[in-house]
Amino acid sequence: MKVIAFLNQKGGVGKTTLAIGIATFLSRLGHRVLLIDADPQGSALDWAAARQGDPIFPVVGLPRPTIHREIDQIGADYDFVVIDGPPRVTDLARSAIMAADLVVVPVQPSPYDVWAAEEIIKLIEEARIYKEKLKAVFTVNRKIANTAIGRDVGEILGQYALPTLNSTVTQRVIFAEAAAEGKAVFEIDAEGPATLEMAELTREIQEALA
Ligand SMILES: Nc1ncnc2c1ncn2[C@@H]1O[C@H](COP(=O)(O)OP(=O)(O)O)[C@@H](O)[C@H]1O
Ligand SMILES: [Mg+2]
Repeated sequence: MKVIAFLNQKGGVGKTTLAIGIATFLSRLGHRVLLIDADPQGSALDWAAARQGDPIFPVVGLPRPTIHREIDQIGADYDFVVIDGPPRVTDLARSAIMAADLVVVPVQPSPYDVWAAEEIIKLIEEARIYKEKLKAVFTVNRKIANTAIGRDVGEILGQYALPTLNSTVTQRVIFAEAAAEGKAVFEIDAEGPATLEMAELTREIQEALA
């Protein structure tokens, strides 16, 4: 069982979108997946509730700072547990980091957004004192189509101890549609660009965990 936590104290960067995305794509690959909604706002639970028909995988709400103590029991029957993190640096975020094998920090491609991730990076560095094997990466979300990630953003990302994944996720309406209908993007557009990007991100995340 591997645990992937999406964390950033900034809201709106895509923690929920990417957590759901990765969970759905891992599930499509045949893995047993559990999604833990650790955000008191419960957006991942809302996504699951919006779905007509059978769930793709179970989603449980666990907005308590005990995730790291419960994860082995809760996740025992799964290949992957994906944690959708809270929008604040609290005990909850700390608990999710302590539960994780890999922390993914989504950032939007602007210098302000990268700087805004500073607090969570500090928390990850603190956790590494106890948990040497903890892996952590940045991933760029909400990239504007047909634009390069600005050189300034690349340089700023390069100043942190976290590597940045090569795959990026573009700003696309399909993610809002998928959120509203409780669907995976591949159920809406199986060959579309969002599906291809998410598949590539999933591959890279699995590689980072290996
Ligand atoms: N790549 C994307 N393309 C289009 N909309 C996106 C994308 N990523 C996130 N969003 C939208 O932005 C909003 C915030 O994203 P969300 O995943 O809820 O962020 P967080 O969980 O970090 O607060 C949501 O309405 C979501 O649908
Ligand atoms: Mg969220």
